[in-house]
Amino acid sequence: MSRPKVFISRRIPAASLKPLLQECDVDVWEDELPPPYEILLEKVRGTDGIISLLTDKIDANLMDAAGKQLKVISQYAVGVDNIDLEAATQRCIVVGHTPGVLTESTADLAFGLLMAAARRIVEGYEYVKAGRWRTWHPLLLLGVDVHGATLGIVGMGRIGQAVARRASGFGMKVLYYNHRPKEVRIPGVEAEQVDLETLLRRSDFVSIHTPLTEDTRHLIDRRAFEMMKPTAVLVNTARGGIVDTEALYEALKSGRIGYAALDVTDPEPLPPNHPLLSLPNVVVVPHIGSASTTTRTRMGDLAVSNLLSALKGKRPPHVANPEVLDRPECR
Ligand code: GLV
Ligand code: GLV
Repeated sequence: MSRPKVFISRRIPAASLKPLLQECDVDVWEDELPPPYEILLEKVRGTDGIISLLTDKIDANLMDAAGKQLKVISQYAVGVDNIDLEAATQRCIVVGHTPGVLTESTADLAFGLLMAAARRIVEGYEYVKAGRWRTWHPLLLLGVDVHGATLGIVGMGRIGQAVARRASGFGMKVLYYNHRPKEVRIPGVEAEQVDLETLLRRSDFVSIHTPLTEDTRHLIDRRAFEMMKPTAVLVNTARGGIVDTEALYEALKSGRIGYAALDVTDPEPLPPNHPLLSLPNVVVVPHIGSASTTTRTRMGDLAVSNLLSALKGKRPPHVANPEVLDRPECR
C-alpha cells in the first residue's frame, strides 16, 4: 500500500509529529495564519487524512474537494463546531478530537481569569505601568471576594467539573446547569444542579463550559444579563458564540453586570478597535485555554493517534461522530 497522504493545517509540537512522519506523507501548512478556505480546498485534495484546527472551516464542500479517499479529519481541539459532523458521517469520514488531555489546563485558565476579574489584576498592572501608583489608598481598585462567593457553571462536563473542584478549594459555593439535566457527582465537592435562570440570578461568577451548538448559540443573551447580579463576573473559556457580544457590551457598559473575563470572543480574533476593548471592566486573552507546553503536546499526540487509528481502520481513542463507526455502509 502506498503511504497515506496527510495535510496538517498548522505547525503542531514536533514531538507529536514523529509517528506520523514514519507512516505518512505529511504536508504541513507553515504560516502563522490559517490557510484561506480556497487554499485549504486545494491542499486537502487527494488526502487520506487531515489534522484540522478550530480556525479551519471544514464543511461538506471541503470534504468533497478532498475526494472519496478521505477517511479521517482529526481536530487538534476538543471543540468541533467548525466541522460539519453530519456531512462527515454521511461520507463515512471519522472526526477525531482531543477531550480529556486539555481539561485541567483549560480549568486553570478559567480560574485564573475569574481571579483576575474579581481582583482587577490586569487593571492594577495597567495602573502601575501608567505611573499612577502614588500611595496605598483604602479605596484603590476594590474588587469582589472569590472565597465565599457563588460560582455558576454552565455545562458541567469534564472542564466544568475541573473548575468546580478548584472553586471548592477556594471555599466557593457551586451551582451548575446542564442543557440536558444530568446529576453530576464530584468526590469532595458540593454542587447543586439548578435551571439556567436560577443559576444566573444566584451566581456571583458565571463560567461557561458548554460546547457551541445550535442550542447554545447566544445562550447568554440580553435576557440572561438582565437576570444576573449587577456585580456578576462572566467568564468564558468555551466558545465566543455562546455569548451575544453586543448584549455583553451593553451589559458591561450600563453596569447591568460587573465584569467579563474572556478567553474566547465573537468575532475571533477580536479586532483591537472593538468596542468591548474600550471598557475598563473586561479582560480578554487570545484563546489560550489549552496553551501549556505539556497540554499542547498531549493534544498533538492524541490528534495523531486518532488519525493513525482511523487510517488503519481501527477505533480511534476519541471520535466526535461515533455514529460513523456503526454505519454498515462505512465498514
Ligand atoms: C479549544 O478551544 C478547544 O476546543 O480545544
Ligand atoms: C471537554 O473536555 C468537556 O467535556 O468539558
